[in-house]
Amino acid sequence: MSKNFDVVVIGGGPGGYIAAIRAAQLGFNTACIDEWKNQKGGPAPGGTCTNVGCIPSKALLQSSEHYEHASHGFAEHGIEVKGLGLNLEKMLGRKNTVVKQNNDGILYLFKKNKVAFFHGRGSFVKGDANGYEIKVAGAAEETITAKHVIVATGSNARALPGAEFDEKLILSNTGALAISEVPKKLGVIGAGVIGLEMGSVWRRLGAEVTVLEALPTFLGAVDEQIAKEAHKLLTKQGLAVNLGVKIGAIKTGKNSVSVEYTDAKGEAHTGEFDKLIISIGRTPNTIGLNAEGVGLKLDERGFIAVDGDCKTNLPNVWAVGDVVRGPMLAHKAEEEGVAVAERIAGQHGHVNFNTIPWVIYTSPEIAWVGKTEQQLKAEGVQYKAGTFPFLANGRARALGDTSGMVKFLADAKTDEILGVHIVGPMASELISEAVVAMEFRASSEDIARICHAHPSLSEATKEAALAVDKRALNF
Ligand code: FAD
Ligand code: NAI
Repeated sequence: MSKNFDVVVIGGGPGGYIAAIRAAQLGFNTACIDEWKNQKGGPAPGGTCTNVGCIPSKALLQSSEHYEHASHGFAEHGIEVKGLGLNLEKMLGRKNTVVKQNNDGILYLFKKNKVAFFHGRGSFVKGDANGYEIKVAGAAEETITAKHVIVATGSNARALPGAEFDEKLILSNTGALAISEVPKKLGVIGAGVIGLEMGSVWRRLGAEVTVLEALPTFLGAVDEQIAKEAHKLLTKQGLAVNLGVKIGAIKTGKNSVSVEYTDAKGEAHTGEFDKLIISIGRTPNTIGLNAEGVGLKLDERGFIAVDGDCKTNLPNVWAVGDVVRGPMLAHKAEEEGVAVAERIAGQHGHVNFNTIPWVIYTSPEIAWVGKTEQQLKAEGVQYKAGTFPFLANGRARALGDTSGMVKFLADAKTDEILGVHIVGPMASELISEAVVAMEFRASSEDIARICHAHPSLSEATKEAALAVDKRALNF
């Protein structure tokens, strides 16, 4: 195998493996180095997303939702389930199979696109504008060279000081996706994306879940009206969300964890849990890269410092995904990976940060793109709002899932769509229409005038667009 490459990508998560494929498509001799190991020690490319993030969490969200439907939801449809049982080992096994299918899929794509794959840790040895030497420490140690380097080393779960992850009692996302017995009492610190998704999984499977959140508001980054509705729906399902708490000492026993905290009123409590998930955000991963050795600049928060084009301070060294500023989302990492490969080829790759969608895969799902109402107010933008509840949507009624709404925010003068916010069934799929519309700088009237299939959940999107002009037809 050649050891001299046009492009070497360090990290094979969604940012890295997609960058490598695009670089190869553009005709570059490309390599990707990734160190993730499967249980047998073999390669498991796909990064956090594939191994302990997006993919396994969505597999468990789906399985646990089926279980909840079978235990609570089917009866309404006249389907009586007797002798329902939970085989958690099988459920976790299925999740592992889904992960492996994705790992294998990436290895296949590397072969198909002639990307050389190195299994091991990549680190800078030396280099300048003429090229870089990269050491790969895997089963063997070898050195390869690259004209361009793309760093895509991702992120790690942030630990709470004094409560290091042991993945037995105190769990990061890794442990939270592999609990072998449903805990009776599960504590979750942080009511962010992971806390709500993983809390939902284990609540549906029977755990009593207590979520402890430092901020006084629920999902502060989400449009307030949508966040309030989501809070109402999720707490009604049984997720106990405590806002404005201050975490004190966390102590582990043989089979339990205790968490001292004060609530929003300042009253002291001690929570006793069988397991504790800590999901308080993630930190960029530059461990073992030898960034300092080659003078690769990090910012004050430990992210690799990049400009708007993902260029670092070193010539021909780029960085994408969770290891650089911006939302920690797989699709953001992928878009940056594609854009960088295209820039290396002299093209004009571009990532539009204003139209990156967010989805929280609870039930109902929460999805949004663009500005929230509170952001528009803070920026002094004149806007019009239109909402439409799924309660008035025929398909949602047929599905038996009428919770939530679609909300449109449009410029008061030009009617350009500035933000779309959804809490409701299949919000993750519905949001794409809003992303496309915003990419094309559509007005709410554009969506209102488009024919949407009937009966479909997407009619709620059209109706919310109509509601901007106060002319919803079905509400
Ligand atoms: P990563 O996926 O972290 O990949 C980095 C890779 O680089 C890893 O394989 C790592 O082993 C490797 N690596 C690091 N250093 C080296 C080195 N020196 N040499 C060789 N290899 C190295 N995002 C979404 O958009 N949708 C979701 O539904 C979603 N769900 C999530 C659920 C959970 C529980 C978590 C934790 C995250 C979730 N995310 C989701 C976020 C998403 O996983 C990340 O944004 C995404 O994985 C970032 O991609 P990346 O390529 O930048 O880094
Ligand atoms: P997060 O940033 O979404 O949420 C962390 C929460 O913890 C915040 O609400 C914060 O206020 C709270 N917090 C911080 N310190 C605290 C403390 N000391 N005590 C109590 N609460 C505290 O981070 P999370 O959930 O860890 O997820 C990390 C990232 O992974 C997400 O931001 C997202 O980018 C990505 N992700 C995306 C998913 C998706 O797209 N569906 C799913 C899961 C993760």
